[in-house]
Amino acid sequence: MPHFLSAEDFSPRLVYALFRLAGELRARRETPKLLSGRSVTLLFGEPSTRTRLSFSLAALRLGAEILTLDERLTSRAKGETLADTLEVLALLGVDVAVVRTSEDAIRPPALAPSVVSAGSGTGEHPTQALLDAWTLYEAFGRLEGLRLLVLGDVRHSRVFGSHARLLPRLGVHLTAAAPRAWLGREEDLEGVADRIALEDVSLEDLLAAVDAVLVLRPQWERHAHSVGTPALPTPASYLERYGLTQARARALRPEARILHPGPVTWGVEIDPALRDDPRILVRRQVENGLYVRMAVLVAAGGNFPSYETGHAAFARDSSSPAERGYFGEGSPPRDDKSPFREGSARAFTSPLHR
Ligand code: NCD
Repeated sequence: MPHFLSAEDFSPRLVYALFRLAGELRARRETPKLLSGRSVTLLFGEPSTRTRLSFSLAALRLGAEILTLDERLTSRAKGETLADTLEVLALLGVDVAVVRTSEDAIRPPALAPSVVSAGSGTGEHPTQALLDAWTLYEAFGRLEGLRLLVLGDVRHSRVFGSHARLLPRLGVHLTAAAPRAWLGREEDLEGVADRIALEDVSLEDLLAAVDAVLVLRPQWERHAHSVGTPALPTPASYLERYGLTQARARALRPEARILHPGPVTWGVEIDPALRDDPRILVRRQVENGLYVRMAVLVAAGGNFPSYETGHAAFARDSSSPAERGYFGEGSPPRDDKSPFREGSARAFTSPLHR
């Protein structure tokens, strides 16, 4: 079974297949039990609200048997490695392990369930990048050519670690802007078109030039290594110097969109007055997380067998050139057992435009 540990584990073809499945699942009143008979374990070693709840609900609605482990109450606290813990899960018959860890990378052993990252240290958070991409795709109807500014603590953000590995491959023009002390690491920045120290530019000018801005929370809890370094941003002065104030939001175009993976520390990286700005998609991102994580769990649980050749659920014409590219070639094998068979001729419609 496949592992999903990095945004690089999602090909563009698979990304659009997952978007389509997420859209289908969202449109259904009853969720088909695509994980019936499968066992999903959540192993969480760091705090989480959205990610943990959405993965749990996703597994439950898909009919999986689900167990949640707080890493501090497992043998991890006695020094057992994550790899050995994953082997134990496999031996006990767990099919999918959703893992959040403070380690920067997850390395499953040979005998392991399908592992889905729910965030690893300052490394990656691939499903967050996927759901951010879906939210942008819904809002703009395309990703190709979209200009996205990621603003904030890119150096310590695992969400950005996955954005940088996913979005450029989907055609997004990605600019990273951060306080100089928190500019990204070289290895994360290969696909990033521009990388800008906020001390060197007018943030208003940057905002005026993009289709969307995705704001990141300063990861204060991950700054221990740099305590004492001069010129580090502080919570009290952050908003005025680097954050999305009301004045700066006025520089954004009316049709631009504002995203944030959450949790937002209102008053630090975004002015609380922008909470109900019509351009903000933060709540939509939370809702989308459930469906994107359902789709990823289906892929991880092995019930998404022909995503390389085309699944019956995805075997429809699409008006989107990107999707036509991924689904348009040949006719995929018919899967009469597909829970999506009935109604599968329906065109995909964006949930935002229903
Ligand atoms: C993020 C995380 O934990 O990486 N939150 C999330 O999963 N939506 C971002 C953060 O902690 O700032």
